[in-house]
Amino acid sequence: MSTLQDDLREHHERALIIDFGSQVTQLIARRLRESGVYCEVHPYNKVDAAFLDTYDPRAIVLSGGPSSVASAKSPRADAHVFDFGVPVLGICYGQQTMCVQLGGEVEAGHDGEFGRADIEIVGDSPLFAGIGGTHATQRVWMSHGDRVTKQPDGFEIIAKSEGAPLAATADEARRFYGVQFHPEVVHTPMGADMLRNFTHKIAGMKGDWTMKAFREEAIAKVRQQVGDGKVICGLSGGVDSSVVAVLLHEAIGDQLTCVYVDTGMMRKGESDQVISLFSKHYNMNLIHVDAGDEFLGLLEGVDDPERKRKIIGGTFIDIFEREAKKVGGAKFLAQGTLYPDVIESVSFDGGPSVTIKSHHNVGGLPERMDMELVEPLRELFKDEVRALGQELGLHKDFVERHPFPGPGLAIRCPGVITGEKLDALRDADEIYLEEIRKAGLYNEIWQAFAVILPVKTVGVMGDGRTYDHVLALRAVTSTDGMTADYYPFKHDFLGRTATRIINEVRGVNRVVYDVTSKPPGTIEWE
Ligand code: XMP
Repeated sequence: MSTLQDDLREHHERALIIDFGSQVTQLIARRLRESGVYCEVHPYNKVDAAFLDTYDPRAIVLSGGPSSVASAKSPRADAHVFDFGVPVLGICYGQQTMCVQLGGEVEAGHDGEFGRADIEIVGDSPLFAGIGGTHATQRVWMSHGDRVTKQPDGFEIIAKSEGAPLAATADEARRFYGVQFHPEVVHTPMGADMLRNFTHKIAGMKGDWTMKAFREEAIAKVRQQVGDGKVICGLSGGVDSSVVAVLLHEAIGDQLTCVYVDTGMMRKGESDQVISLFSKHYNMNLIHVDAGDEFLGLLEGVDDPERKRKIIGGTFIDIFEREAKKVGGAKFLAQGTLYPDVIESVSFDGGPSVTIKSHHNVGGLPERMDMELVEPLRELFKDEVRALGQELGLHKDFVERHPFPGPGLAIRCPGVITGEKLDALRDADEIYLEEIRKAGLYNEIWQAFAVILPVKTVGVMGDGRTYDHVLALRAVTSTDGMTADYYPFKHDFLGRTATRIINEVRGVNRVVYDVTSKPPGTIEWE
């Protein structure tokens, strides 16, 4: 049986991104998809003539990477990439390897350029169509040590910068382009337009990748995979599992049963919201397991973060398995695995050349229960999942929701977990998010939450002395949760929120704001 990926390839024009291990390769894919181009990321050592023939791309992008083309073992694109007859765009390392492979020269050991730079466009390449014309200056993001010093035959300079006289080069006849800078990052403001010029103007792609089309294809695929079998789905109320549930419900209706496990460590009102939307509004088969006592009993006295996670993960699986068995005869387990979880990554650290991250919301269960996985989001990035949720008509409160970790409030309660601390945390979190929404900041922030600390401090309220917990507030911006910056709230916002929390939440008499980025911090405190 064909996979969803096979079907997507069949129904859409395809671009191919060849990965040389850059930290930002996935951003190339996201930018291309934002402009309606279906694309896949594949490691350089998996792309050969046979792959190209099967995949049949209309355009090829060579990513950046950490290697130096000057070093003996540095990776190269398969020579067929340049014989295939479609446009090729090399970015940073991709430009350098293309240059060397086609007969040019690259020198290592220059001072390099890191961070912002300005390029001057020279000539009138279609790569820069509509973004200023000849002699226009564009702000770009550079990150390179090596640079091209001699171009292959047929190439002309199309942009230069102070540190890179060959900031962009092109062989317009063969439709080969190389840029020293990174058009895929937001710090290159016109970068998305350059990539769009490459796929649409130069490669002539139509941009036929839409969520409307994906929705129909994904639904057809689920029906084909599942037939008249039963599917169970762990529903947490987060974006991914909610979109999976709604998509599956549309595809197979009553054959789907969702299991919502209330660990007792959810936020205020969360369980009611999930039950009311999925069970009442969508009329789905939904098993609501109220397991708060079970979880809290097992966590009593436990203060080690890893032990907390293990207890919660293990108990979750036990409960899920128990409930799933009750459904009887379900052969399929649905999961919200996303594309970043399955892209094969290139490794240059001497370890195995290919690693695949495993991501299991209900880890280990499929094998334990002999179930087949249904993963309708496997081909999507997080922002596409949100777009699909919108396409499916999922309520915006769910589509826009900040991520919430599986272990829930347990990892926002450092030290031992008590009902009293959880109650204070829930109340404070609710006030914090309410203030963020009121200020219109919810969608600017990747994730915001409160953490109740195992530290008590002295305070004074009215005429009395208090001795209560410290509460930390955290808010970060991020694109994927892998790196993050703290959110720069205005002081009056923090002051107002802190005052409300201290006045309204029992057990908290001091509020602090966490200004740590990731790295070196993590987003959660445990
Ligand atoms: P950290 O704290 O590692 O978090 O910077 C990155 C993102 O992952 C979320 N997170 C989890 N999500 N199960 C989950 O489903 C977990 O055990 C877990 N731990 C962290 C975190 O909220 C952030 O969005």
